[in-house]
Order: sequence, then structure tokens, then C-alpha cells
Amino acid sequence: MIPQSFIQDLLNRLDIVDVVDRYVPLKKAGANYVACCPFHSEKSPSFSVSPTKQFYHCFGCGAHGSAIGFVMEHQGLGFVEAVEDLARNAGMAVPKEESGQHEHRAAGNFDALHEVMQQATRYYRDELKRSETAVDYLKKRGLSGEIAARFGVGYAPGGWQNLAAVVSDYQAKSLVQAGLVIEGEEGKRYDRFRDRIMFPILNQKGAVIGFGGRVLGAGEPKYLNSPETPLFEKGRELYGLFQARQAIRAAGKVIVVEGYMDVVALAQHGVEYAVATLGTATTPVHVQKLLRQSDNVVFCFDGDTAGRKAAWRALENSLALVSDEKNLKFLFLPQGEDPDSYIRKEGKAAFEALLESALPLSEFLLRELAAGVDMQTMEGRAHFLKLAQPLVQQVAAPALRLMLQQRLAELAGVSRNELETLMPVKLPVKQPAAMRPKPSRKPPSLVRKMLQWLLYQPELGMDFDVNLIGGNSDEQKTLRALLDFVSNNKSQINTTVGVWEYFRGSAHEALLSEVSGEILEWDKAEVAAEFAGALEQLHQAERNRSIDALLGRPLGELTPEEKSELQRLLQGGYGSTKAT
Ligand code: UTP
Ligand code: MN
Repeated sequence: MIPQSFIQDLLNRLDIVDVVDRYVPLKKAGANYVACCPFHSEKSPSFSVSPTKQFYHCFGCGAHGSAIGFVMEHQGLGFVEAVEDLARNAGMAVPKEESGQHEHRAAGNFDALHEVMQQATRYYRDELKRSETAVDYLKKRGLSGEIAARFGVGYAPGGWQNLAAVVSDYQAKSLVQAGLVIEGEEGKRYDRFRDRIMFPILNQKGAVIGFGGRVLGAGEPKYLNSPETPLFEKGRELYGLFQARQAIRAAGKVIVVEGYMDVVALAQHGVEYAVATLGTATTPVHVQKLLRQSDNVVFCFDGDTAGRKAAWRALENSLALVSDEKNLKFLFLPQGEDPDSYIRKEGKAAFEALLESALPLSEFLLRELAAGVDMQTMEGRAHFLKLAQPLVQQVAAPALRLMLQQRLAELAGVSRNELETLMPVKLPVKQPAAMRPKPSRKPPSLVRKMLQWLLYQPELGMDFDVNLIGGNSDEQKTLRALLDFVSNNKSQINTTVGVWEYFRGSAHEALLSEVSGEILEWDKAEVAAEFAGALEQLHQAERNRSIDALLGRPLGELTPEEKSELQRLLQGGYGSTKAT
């Protein structure tokens, strides 16, 4: 765990304009800086960075965040790594705070981890040249030396402690933390990877953060992967992305396959725009990363049941992320084939022709749903609609959602209007930060506005009576948490980004992020006045409630105290309120 105080120090020390400008050249425009948004494709700049508020906001796609958030999103880094990165640039050392749950992160000495990973990578690569069996194996699988070098493929020889001769201290903590060495009973250490072909996994900067190791022949497990480490989170990484970046841009598309060998074999045959998930289901983070690389994403799965299941997971995790200018497709290979075997047999042209025939997301969705029911019967079609509803509701792309509804109605044999009465489509509630549709024009509730005001200027909530906020909606709960934070704010966090970072990882994070949209252009004096007005409304509502309660009882039953209370309240006025 990185101490909260350090995060706040770091935010105070940094200038987000410098941070963003390092990756996305900014132009001054009035009080702010602007650029074309790096998180969605656009021709005129709607991405704005505020030097006074220290956050960025895109008026096109809604992406926004602090300097830390920007580095995470833009570089595809985890929180800790982003903080380390920014701290290094600012010349600050990240202090460590011990905590059971985050132990492996607490010790996150990234430099040491990167160093041992580098040493191991070099060693495995050298060993490949020395091992005839390993080279033969790769040749048999059709790989040239050139492609093996491009992917940094190596070989971990048999033997239990080979790395002892490679690193300066085999007992160093970093070896275990990096997942290269396993500590057994009584502290005995041994190499994790033995007698395996090694596929290094690179992050977006090209540093090795993990390995996949394949047995040469038969054996279990077929692939042994690095464990989750401070450097490596499977759910965030895509194998081959670093090598594929340029080809993805050139081809205007990216293919997602299932295996290491698929990526490598495709590249061997000239299809260099493929990446793989790492033996895990496709996560929303994967999808986000992919959509950032290209507007066209093709998921390529085996034609078997497992492949269809994996494709469905990818679809579910994509619905909330697609926008109307994006194009997601699903390709199923013939039974028994994977991209590696297919392209070796049929060649590049045949594979690319197959890619062209991939199913658009909408079609895959409707086909799969229809396949699970009997569309000949009313009951079957009713079931079909029922299954479709929660999925269609998640679709963030408005035009696509509309067309899906049209198709659904047609297929079920009902009219659009009937369908709408049956399943009113709500706007998606929870969406990952990067791809949010434009904020809706609906006026926000008072509670929501208060959240925005407090985010904008936390000290406004200092003497606020939390009891004025009743109810148990998410907005009300988050507002209470925020008020509670403000009144106990010992570290005196008084900036929007400070509050964001304080609530990062909590149940309130998503909502706080969601309501942050428009505050970039706000004016301090106006906010204070509006807040005072709202506070008055809340007090009025509270007075009204008390008056109603007292008036609701026979006057004769009221105690003298209650009577004078009523009098006092009525003097305050029974006003109209628009509150909550
Ligand atoms: P596959 O079993 O389809 O293997 O696993 P493959 O990619 O075709 O491998 P080759 O062609 O036999 O060499 C697909 C992916 O699932 C993960 C790996 O990422 C693999 O590339 N996997 C598979 C594991 O992590 N561990 C395993 O034991 C098996
Ligand atoms: Mn294979």
C-alpha cells in the first residue's frame, strides 16, 4: 500500500499539463490546454486539461481523471506502477506502508523486479542458442530464428537453480516477487521454469513483466505462466501487443487469439496484428486496451464449445464499451483448428479471407440467443426477449442499441413500440472510465449536484449536518461518505483530484467519477452560491417535515415544548422546496 499522504503529496507536486504533454502534445486555449482526445478518435480537439484543477476531461467521450489516472489509462499501467512512474519523474521516492492484503504490492520495488526479469530474459535467450532440442522444437513448429528473436523466445534448461548463476543474489526477495523463483518448505528456493520454451510477456513499454513457459513435448501443465506479481496482472495484459502496435495501425485492425503460439505463428506468416489474452477470459480492461489500439477488433476463437463460451464472455465484457464508430467481430475457426494450425495449413490469404467473414457483435449476440431457444413458439420467442434484455441494456453505443432493438422486435414478431413497453431500455449504469457516452442532458438531482460541488470544492461541506441527507440510494450514500470525509479530513485534502484519489478503489469511486464530468469549467463563486442555496433548500425541507409531523397531530396533544417548537418552525416559514 502506498500511503494516502504520499499520493496527495505527489498530486500537489505534479503538474498534469506536463504529465499529459509528455504523451499528448497540448495547445493552450483560454485557461485550459486542449488536444485531440487520445482515448477516442476525433478530428477536432475536445480533450481539455485544466492547470488549475489538475485534471483532464474529454467533452467527446467523457474520459477524465487525475495525472495518475491519465498515466494508468494512457500507458495501460496499474495504479502502483503509475504512481511509481510519476514519482520517479518528479524525483520522489515512494514510501512503503505494510499491510497484509497488499503485501506483494507493498514491497513493490519495481526497479529490482525489472532488473531480475531482464537478467532472466537474457539468460533464457542465450540458453536457447545452446539447446539443440529446443531449437529443433521451434523449427518443427515452423518458426524462423528471426521471429523467435522478434518475440524474444528463450529456453529455460532443466535443473533446479540455474538462475543462481545468473543473478547477483539468489536469496533476494525480488526473485520470488517477480515469480521467477519459488520458495518451498524450510525456505528452500528453486527456479519456477525448468526445461521449458520461454515466451516473455512485455508491457506497453517493452519491459518483460512475465513469462509463459511451454513444455517441449507432452506434460502438465502445457503452459506454465508467471503468477500475478506487482509487475504482472493477467487481466490487464495482452501477449504480443508491444510487437504488434505498428502492424495494428497499418492494418487498421487487431485480432485477439487464445495462445502464445497463435500470435507467433500468425506473425511468422505475415499476420503481425494479432495479440493473445493470457489463458484468461477477456476482461473489460482488455477490451478497453484493444479499442484504444484500433476501431476494428476481431476476436478469434476455436470453433468448439469452449471457444464459443470464451467468445460469449468477450461479448459480455464488450457491450458497455463499444461506441458507434467501433467495430467488434467474432471469428470461429473450423473444428479442431487454432490460428496457428490454420495459417500453417492454409496460408495468409486464406486466413485473412476468413477474417473478412467474421460475425459482427450484433449478429453473434442474436444468433447465440436464438440458438438457445425455440424461435418457432411464442414461449421460445418470449424467452429470447427475456434473455436479450439485460444484454441490450448494457450496450453503450446508441445507434447500435437502437438497431439491436429493431432486430429483436422483428425476430420476436412484435412492434418496436410493444417491445419498448415490454422492456424499457435504461441507459447503462456502470461504465468503465475510458469510454463513456456524452453526459445526458437531464438535469441532475440535488444530491448529485451536491456531490459535484463538494468534489469541486470539498471545504464547502465542512460544517454540513449529515442528517440532512436521508435515503439509501447510491447517490445519497456516496454523498454521506463524502461529507463524512470532508468533516474528518485531517490531511486537508482540498482538490478534486485529491478526493478522487482518496476514494479510488472504494464503492463510491464509480459514482464520484461519473458525476465529475462537467465541473471542469465551473467558477468558484458561483459554486459557493449554488451550494448555499441548496443548503437552504435542505433546511427548508427539514423544517417542512417537522411542521408536517407536528401539524399531523391534534393540537391538544402537543406538549408545551412541541407547541413552541411549532411556532418557531412556522416563523421560519413553510416554504416550497425543490429539494431531493
Ligand atoms: P491451448 O491449449 O489452446 O494451447 O491454450 P495452444 O496455444 O494451442 O498451444 P500449442 O499450440 O499447443 O503450443 C491456449 C492458451 O491458454 C493458455 C496459454 O496462454 C495458451 O497459449 N494455457 C493453456 C495455459 O496458460 N496453461 C495451459 O496449461 C494451457
Ligand atoms: Mn495450438
